[in-house]
Amino acid sequence: MQVTPDWLARLPKTELHLHIEGTLEPELMFALARRNGVALPYPSVEAARAAYDFSALQSFLDLYYAGASVLLTEQDFYDLTAAYLLRCRADRVVHTEIFFDPQTHTARGVPYATVLSGIRRALADAQAQFGISSKLILCFLRHLSEQDGFATLREAEPYLDLIDGVGLDSSEVGHPPEKFFRLFARCKALGLPRVAHAGEEGPPEYVWQALDLLDVCRIDHGVRALEDPALVAELIRRQIPLTVCPLSNVKLKVFERLADHNLRALLEAGLVATINSDDPAYFGGYVGENWRACTEALALSRAELTQLAINGFRGSWLSRPEQERWIAEIEAMTA
Ligand code: HPA
Ligand code: ZN
Repeated sequence: MQVTPDWLARLPKTELHLHIEGTLEPELMFALARRNGVALPYPSVEAARAAYDFSALQSFLDLYYAGASVLLTEQDFYDLTAAYLLRCRADRVVHTEIFFDPQTHTARGVPYATVLSGIRRALADAQAQFGISSKLILCFLRHLSEQDGFATLREAEPYLDLIDGVGLDSSEVGHPPEKFFRLFARCKALGLPRVAHAGEEGPPEYVWQALDLLDVCRIDHGVRALEDPALVAELIRRQIPLTVCPLSNVKLKVFERLADHNLRALLEAGLVATINSDDPAYFGGYVGENWRACTEALALSRAELTQLAINGFRGSWLSRPEQERWIAEIEAMTA
């Protein structure tokens, strides 16, 4: 059967790889800069957008951390998250699992509780107003030390019931998962589910380390896993989802063009691949745009799109009955 824009728009979707700081649109960045009296390195919104021309992950991260400097108050984090959730509603994202980077904020003197409270308040409102369910994942910055990560975990410990798991992000190459072995062991002892960015720019070895040393239940990106057949077999054996971010991968030059992306190859290999937006304000598209662009560039079939949607729910941290409810709705649309 044909894929129509209407069918794609109505398909219930998840987002499992989204950095809330990466949803800061230049318009909101400028509004918050004005509200908080923060100076920005751009003369205008247009100049900010024009600067989003990246050569690799690090050139993006430099601007991403600079942009986050306008986020100071609980209301700022609320406004940021609420704006993202409106995009979810428009794209029929019915469940989202959001990363936040506390170290980016606590290093500037913004208390952990301020960040957490603003994000959580917006998530609760979206659940009440739009029926969008969510999880929240604290990400450790891998370019910082494991000791710094432990200090962040200590700050988070009084509010552990307000997060659903932990992740690992920022500059990948040179900061392998093994650097955080003890921190993740402590998180495991606290009962926190774990994910990690691996195999975006880093080699398959980093994906092995995330699996074997950090004991993660998902791999964020993971597109380079295809280079290692034994790793592919292990990811399938353990049914580990990969949170693939197609437009991000093109913007950060992991693939030259979307038509070159290995998303279909991941699916054909039998991996639990999902579609996500990563840092949509910087990479030029939210979830819906990732689905539309992939459908067009890779000529994805209705069966492949259905599999991707189901994978999103299967890979999520929703309860099994909640997963089944959404999967039944997807299957009803395909029948
Ligand atoms: N990779 C690593 N770290 C990040 C990313 C990413 O795509 N986005 C925000 N932090
Ligand atoms: Zn990411």
